[in-house]
Amino acid sequence: MSAHRIGLIGCGWFAPFHVEALRGLRDRAEIVWAADPDADKARHIADDAGCRPLADYREGLGDVDAVIAIVPHHLHHPITLECLAAGRHVLLEKPMANTLAQCDEMIEAAERASRTLMIALPHRYRQCMQAFRRHVTDGAYGPLCMLDALMDESMQGYALGWLSRRETLGGGVFFSSSPHMIDPMLWIAGPVRHAEMVGTSTGLEMEGEDTAASIMKFESGAIGMTRHTWGSPRSNTWYTMRAMCRDGWVTLTSTPDGDFFNEGVRCPWKTRITALTANGEMTLLESDEGLDLRPEVEHFLDCVESGAEPQTGGRTARAIIALVEGAYARADADGANVP
Ligand SMILES: NC(=O)c1ccc[n+]([C@@H]2O[C@H](COP(=O)([O-])OP(=O)(O)OC[C@H]3O[C@@H](n4cnc5c(N)ncnc54)[C@H](O)[C@@H]3O)[C@@H](O)[C@H]2O)c1
Repeated sequence: MSAHRIGLIGCGWFAPFHVEALRGLRDRAEIVWAADPDADKARHIADDAGCRPLADYREGLGDVDAVIAIVPHHLHHPITLECLAAGRHVLLEKPMANTLAQCDEMIEAAERASRTLMIALPHRYRQCMQAFRRHVTDGAYGPLCMLDALMDESMQGYALGWLSRRETLGGGVFFSSSPHMIDPMLWIAGPVRHAEMVGTSTGLEMEGEDTAASIMKFESGAIGMTRHTWGSPRSNTWYTMRAMCRDGWVTLTSTPDGDFFNEGVRCPWKTRITALTANGEMTLLESDEGLDLRPEVEHFLDCVESGAEPQTGGRTARAIIALVEGAYARADADGANVP
């Protein structure tokens, strides 16, 4: 099969992660163009990727068979619909869209066009998360009682731009970033019966909450919680996920070993899984795996070729939006998501 021809839509902070992933998949995919209305950003990413810059992605849709959309959240829905209508496969950055109704339209549009729609929720594709899941679900530590995820990011001092407005971000940190944890939690523990959130502000200039906690009850009987802030004074622990099982606690910690926001894709990482049992603590995995999107992008290419539904297809990603929207609605009714 000849290499897939890919267009990149959006050349901001996260685009280099996709360029790097595709560099590692050169035999399967070629970046044909990189589009951004900001000409400097388009040129920067195009130079890095060795492709042509575009001001408007619509001019390039005829030259590619798939796009990767890395744009502000309010554009996820219109750009996805436009690309699917043009017959292109779409790998779309999380979260899927700002409303459930938009998610439904996107799922329907992908089915109508017989094209792959995958939402980029990278953490379940990371080797460390796959190992964590295996340790938790293979029964060695007994049944899962609780999943507890802490995600700690530092946005202090950064110009938040579209992230600061509800209309463009879609909500606050719980909408934008907690899905990084919620997706692997649902993948590990199964569907959720009940979820609630509370939110507050550490003082970042944004309309939505910059700090949120949630609790959830899984249909399996286990419970889960997320704690998440963008207001960390220092982003030293990016995330820790702990599975409390009857006979042991399994903990995954994945930490940028540098300044993640400034170093971006070049930032080194430290990743570790430990198990704590009655016999003491044991290291199960230690690696320097960072936020490598190659397995995620590779899965997208596999699904494009086979026609299979991606692990993080529209319906899986929609379930996260449904959980978040429901928890927001309950918090709004109770005044539980205010500073
Ligand atoms: N998986 C992760 O860990 C992760 C991390 C960061 C961001 N993201 C996601 O990536 C997406 C982008 O985030 P970012 O941090 O790169 O934001 P960003 O603001 O740095 O970049 C967004 C880019 O989109 C461009 N843009 C706006 N309208 C456009 C249009 N019509 N066509 C093409 N480009 C357009 C902007 O000019 C900007 O350069 C979001 O969905 C975000 O949630 C994911």
